[in-house]
Amino acid sequence: MGGMSEPFPLDLERLRRRPDVEDPTLQAHDATDVLLVQRGLEHARAHGLRGEQILIVGERHGAITLALAAAGLRGMLVHQDRLAHERALDRNADELGLAGSYGRLERVGDGAAGARLLLWQLPRQVGAVRRTVAELAAVPSGALLLAGGRVKHLSVGMNAPLAEGFGDVEPQLAERKSRLLLVHRDAERSLAVPPGGSASVTVGGQRLELRGEAESFGGAALDPGTRLLLDTLAARGTAAGNDPATVVDLGCGNGTIAAWAALTWPGARIEATDDSRDAVAAAAASLEASGVARRARVVRADGGDHLAEGAADVVLLNPPFHQGGTVHTGIATKLMREAARMLRPGGTLLCVWNSHLRYRPRLERLVGPTEQLARDRTFTVTASTRRG
Ligand SMILES: C[S@@+](CC[C@H](N)C(=O)[O-])C[C@H]1O[C@@H](n2cnc3c(N)ncnc32)[C@H](O)[C@@H]1O
Repeated sequence: MGGMSEPFPLDLERLRRRPDVEDPTLQAHDATDVLLVQRGLEHARAHGLRGEQILIVGERHGAITLALAAAGLRGMLVHQDRLAHERALDRNADELGLAGSYGRLERVGDGAAGARLLLWQLPRQVGAVRRTVAELAAVPSGALLLAGGRVKHLSVGMNAPLAEGFGDVEPQLAERKSRLLLVHRDAERSLAVPPGGSASVTVGGQRLELRGEAESFGGAALDPGTRLLLDTLAARGTAAGNDPATVVDLGCGNGTIAAWAALTWPGARIEATDDSRDAVAAAAASLEASGVARRARVVRADGGDHLAEGAADVVLLNPPFHQGGTVHTGIATKLMREAARMLRPGGTLLCVWNSHLRYRPRLERLVGPTEQLARDRTFTVTASTRRG
């Protein structure tokens, strides 16, 4: 960590990822976190900033927040999209004796007016950068934004919303495959908050109105795997049984599956869950626009941890296969375990997955006997029966 004026304040190897997926190949910090902390601390010291004047956006498992806390700052305001990330931060804080050293923001904009320094792990979507910049309109002149990411995930398209909506952008040299952008708030600038996307689609015999948010999976688009899943179920007369009482859309993204299920099983109670704030907002908007909001509940949850064991007759799942920037199947395993936990014995998990991932043995082991319902060039659809 050459060039630092003070030693790095926290042993980052002590951070853990849980309840997010843990694996020896996955870390709880990256080089961008380190750069943001180093440059952020330098700036905070040089300007005598207090912790409450520092806004941290896009924090993952706590590397930025807890390093600042370990350096003696208190009251930083933190915004995170994923619930698993919020919980990892809190648990790491507890273990390091740093609980209570930061506050949490529901909306980034709520912390804007008091911010003098902003530390931002940039999302990969330009639209998400634009949306957050728009929410930062109240940041006062003289503030500094340090925005960073892995070089392979940054795009030049991000400079435009930063420059139009925040201030002059000064890209830094890449270090250990990460790069910081220094953005100086020189005057009042603002962007209009961009609308979330929308799409009308017909899938599995139902007409759906989908809505997206900046960080919800695929925006408002219909995922091709989900199309195969729902078309397959419709063609089979919804093989999962007639009118299940409780249906869960696990990892609901924009709520495509939940909206389809509400229209397909008029007697069922629909539970949609996702751990992303944006996904939950998008799913709620899709259900509303599709006219079925009153039939479904959308909850931000890690898996479906608010749902009791054995509570579901049917779970539908299109699992993610990325952890941050890397392809990793640990999250799929976690969600399959969750599906098994929430299904009643004899209940059905309907799952779609990229065929090359060969999930069938995993589904057999974690849930129960598994039958292939469909397969196209990319995806496989399976039905697994929860063993008693
Ligand atoms: C491949 S997308 C599928 C989205 C949607 N069901 C569809 O069919 O378009 C997987 C979803 O799982 C969500 N997810 C990831 N980790 C999760 C967790 N721990 N708990 C709940 N949802 C999670 C992601 O946010 C993402 O929206």
